[in-house]
Amino acid sequence: MTPTTLTPGLEGVVAAETRLSRVDGQAGELIIAGFPVEELAAHASFEETVFLLWNDRLPSPQELTHFRQALAQRRALPSAVLDLLEAAAQAQLPAMDALRMAAGALSLDLPEGNPQEQALAAVARFPTIVASYARLRQGLSPVPPDPALGHAANYLAMLGGEPPHPAQVRGLETYLNTVVDHGLNASTFTARVIVSTGSDILSAVTGAIGALKGPLHGGAPGPALDMVFQIGRAERAEPFLRAKLEAGERLMGFGHRVYKVRDPRAEVLAEAAARMFQESGDMALYRLARHVEQTAVRLLAEYKPGRNLQTNVEFYTALLLHGLGLEPDLFTPTFAVGRVAGWTAHCLEQQRQNRIIRPRAVYVGAVGRRWADRAPG
Ligand code: ACO
Repeated sequence: MTPTTLTPGLEGVVAAETRLSRVDGQAGELIIAGFPVEELAAHASFEETVFLLWNDRLPSPQELTHFRQALAQRRALPSAVLDLLEAAAQAQLPAMDALRMAAGALSLDLPEGNPQEQALAAVARFPTIVASYARLRQGLSPVPPDPALGHAANYLAMLGGEPPHPAQVRGLETYLNTVVDHGLNASTFTARVIVSTGSDILSAVTGAIGALKGPLHGGAPGPALDMVFQIGRAERAEPFLRAKLEAGERLMGFGHRVYKVRDPRAEVLAEAAARMFQESGDMALYRLARHVEQTAVRLLAEYKPGRNLQTNVEFYTALLLHGLGLEPDLFTPTFAVGRVAGWTAHCLEQQRQNRIIRPRAVYVGAVGRRWADRAPG
């Protein structure tokens, strides 16, 4: 029978069973492999979170040591990937394009048909790709990975060229844990579709990067921060946001397909950002962002009544990553540094219970055309 019911954007459609995360959009709750995101994000190292997603349990101290080593020893990039990043830097490509190109090239030195090895390499090497590219684009040499440092600390060290402050490491680790997985979001769905065809994990994460890049998914934090900077002073927030809404524009960092209350990740990141800004003594930007958020939520309720448009994860992502000294163009690639763990976990889960993901389309085009009737050319 030909199906005829169309669900635009697959909204509300259940397409997979997962043990990885549960998103409750009405209650504003996110559970990651059994843990409330607030607890996991604040306490776990990123390596513990990755192990948890891949194994559905936390590691023993000995397993954690081995896992950290397994990731640390896979961080270096093949020289051809560094050459590719160099060429991308010459062309001044956006960092997400450089990440997508480099991720696709990782198969250069990885064994085919070994999903675990590909997953380890993808998680281990994404930070090296992003940090190397950030430096090459500034005309600087990449900083080699330091196997003595943890995943988050090493990423910051490769970006900045010096050992990071422990408060910054904790801030980044909280961020990476917060965004590590989030149900069947667009990029994760993309990854699952790709492996469901029997394709490999590197192909899946490369496709997922493409999906994450779009401003309706992971590409929002840069514009969200721009908005806060353009507003500049608390009293300008309302006229500025009103003008945007009057012009029919979307406010970046607000609204979500699933959450109809405040995204719980926004709170985790707002608190982490407040801690970091308190340490650095620059609370003015944080206070301005809080004011912009409150004004935006109030105006969204006025202009889009009944839509329940609330703050999403991207708003405070922007603030936190800015506080860590990252350029806006690195916000979405850094999201990928965290989310790649979720993508790979979903790929491994899909492979264990695979059925090719292949929905249908309702044909609404012409019928009855005949080749013989075409206009003479
Ligand atoms: N600002 C203004 N209006 C909005 C916003 C927004 N941020 N978000 C939704 N709306 C409006 C739409 O214009 C629409 O109004 P209408 O019915 O009068 O035409 C209504 O709310 C419903 O919007 P949809 O696009 O149908 O909602 P959907 O669930 O498809 O979109 C999305 C969710 C894409 C996140 C949307 O809220 C949006 O564009 N937000 C801004 C971009 C953003 O912050 N993206 C990051 C999301 S989090 C993540 O992916 C990691």
